[in-house]
Amino acid sequence: MHKFEKIWMSVGTGSLIIFLVILGVSAVHAGHTPAASGIETINPEYVREDTRFAEPGLHESEDEEFDYNLYFVASAFSYEPSEVEIPQGSRVKVQVATTDVVHGFQVVNTNINMMVEPGLVSTYNTNFDTVGEYLIVCNEYCGVGHTDMTSTIKVVDGGAEDNE
Ligand code: CUA
Repeated sequence: MHKFEKIWMSVGTGSLIIFLVILGVSAVHAGHTPAASGIETINPEYVREDTRFAEPGLHESEDEEFDYNLYFVASAFSYEPSEVEIPQGSRVKVQVATTDVVHGFQVVNTNINMMVEPGLVSTYNTNFDTVGEYLIVCNEYCGVGHTDMTSTIKVVDGGAEDNE
């Protein structure tokens, strides 16, 4: 074999090994798991035992960044709560978990559109600035009751302090 050919072959093999080592180390380094970072997991069988999802609905937030936490439990074929009122102008952290299969969580006429997968908590941070009724629909086919799976968010006038 020609000398240069040998050199180039070892360069090729060497870079492949380096590549695999980097990939292998970064895959498990710093507690990384195959799931993307920043994703919260939850056992679908114990969703209702989680303090947040035991009493789904609107709760005042302890987080400076938000006014409220809004929790929804999705299950075939409904959302809990089936209706919720939110004061206009609220900064809300929306979190949804499913107890069974994959559901969708789309709030019509907003940017909120999440897939709700068993084992994961889906999160969306948003402001509800416009008064109105917003329909929540399931946009992932989940069974015979799929089309009936809805809920409603009512953004209501927040009261005197926020009015101009
Ligand atoms: Cu739930 Cu479709």
